[in-house]
Order: sequence, then structure tokens, then C-alpha cells
Amino acid sequence: MFRFEDVTYGPLKNISFSISKKEKVMLFGPSGAGKSTLLYLFNRLHSPDNGTILLGGRDIVEQEVTDLRKRVGLVLQEPNLFPGTVLDNIKYGPALFGEWQDEHAEQLLRYVQLPSSYLDRDVEQLSGGEKQRVSLARTLANSPEVLLLDEPTSALDYRTAEEIEECLESLINEHGLTMIMVTHNLNQARRLGQRGLFLVNGELVEDGNIPEMLDKPDTKELARFIEE
Ligand SMILES: Nc1ncnc2c1ncn2[C@@H]1O[C@H](COP(=O)(O)OP(=O)(O)O)[C@@H](O)[C@H]1O
Ligand SMILES: [Mg+2]
Repeated sequence: MFRFEDVTYGPLKNISFSISKKEKVMLFGPSGAGKSTLLYLFNRLHSPDNGTILLGGRDIVEQEVTDLRKRVGLVLQEPNLFPGTVLDNIKYGPALFGEWQDEHAEQLLRYVQLPSSYLDRDVEQLSGGEKQRVSLARTLANSPEVLLLDEPTSALDYRTAEEIEECLESLINEHGLTMIMVTHNLNQARRLGQRGLFLVNGELVEDGNIPEMLDKPDTKELARFIEE
């Protein structure tokens, strides 16, 4: 569904790969490798200096950016919420387009495994993990086909991170979403991913099946990264 053809931007040099529908792709590599930069190219937060990014065979620069960002949702490390209630936050996006219906609210909270009593809660009162669930529900409110995740559990303690992982895994399977997730955690890559893209210094150094590439790296760069 996504195809990067010789994409160059900022630190990224001549990146090419294709991603199929429903693939679970993990972007990993050292800090500063260009993982976040690569992720933000998928929904046009960045645009390539050279090369082309196709979605469904069409260059994404020819697609309406608001439509693209509904189809390709983004969740960041820090929950992206504004002051107000949980309901205020999850209805905001769809309401802008006149697409909100109140009966969606409970369903969205169910997807992120929060009780419907949370709808009236002030987001300031939520824990870090709960805020991240609401962030996820906000993104799901737009019915995306693709979920982009930039280290969504890195700011959370271990136990909470595991709970968010379980929640992500079940909703991605349930909705048949395509997932592209940045992580620096190889255990998380193993648990959640099928396909791995390993980046170093803006270059795509390995592209493969996750357990295989971690068990038997082809490059000394990946072997060294696993050791560290
Ligand atoms: N537009 C740009 N031009 C040049 N360098 C950039 C640009 N955007 C980011 N960088 C640099 O690229 C490096 C990789 O950034 P980033 O994608 O955030 O890495 P990662 O997410 O892998 O830690 C950083 O050193 C950053 O300063
Ligand atoms: Mg990053």
C-alpha cells in the first residue's frame, strides 16, 4: 500500500521499500538514525527533497492532506491531548468534519480498554497510561487504515508499557490496521512486529523478518546494535 522510491530528506538518504496492507513494521536503530524523520514522511509532516512516496499507487503529494492524515493516523511518545474532558478530546477530529456521532464514544473507549465512565473525566486527572489510551482513541476516531507510532510507550513505566502494547496489539488485529512503529526496544519489536527496518545514519541498513534479522543479522551494524 505504501511505497518509498529513492526518498531523500534531512538525514535520510535514498530510502526505498514497500509496505503491504496489514503489515506490522518496526523502525528501529540508534538514536539519531532518522526513525522519527522517516515516520513523519508517511503522513506529510515532512515532504521528500527527492524521490516519491506512493499510497495506493498515487503520489501522496497529490492527495488531500487532511484525507491522508485521517487514513494515516499518528500517535506520539507524549500524549497529544488538549485541556478538557476525554469526550472533548476524542470527538474533536471527527466533529471538525461533521462526522461525529455520540454513540461512537463508548466504542472508542472500548477499543482502548477504558470504561465509558471516563468520558466525562478531565484529561488532566488521568495517569500517563490512561492519557496515552485517550490519545490512541483520538487517532482511532478518524477510522485510520494505517497507524504510525513514534515510541508510544517510551515515557511509561514497564508495566504500563506492557498494557499499552497489549491494547495496541488487539486493536490492530481487530481493525486489520497497517502498523508502522518506531521503537528503540528490541523486545518490543519482537513482541509487536513482523517486519523490521533497521536504520543507521539515515540509511536503511537491513529490511527483513523480525525474529530472523534479530537472531541472524546480515550486517555488522545490526550485530553491534543487538549487542548493545
Ligand atoms: N530537515 C533536516 N535536515 C537535516 N537534518 C535533520 C533534519 N531533520 C532532522 N535532522 C537530524 O536528523 C537526525 C535524526 O533525527 P530523528 O529522525 O529524530 O532520529 P531518531 O528518531 O532515529 O532518533 C537528528 O540528528 C536531527 O538533528
Ligand atoms: Mg525519534
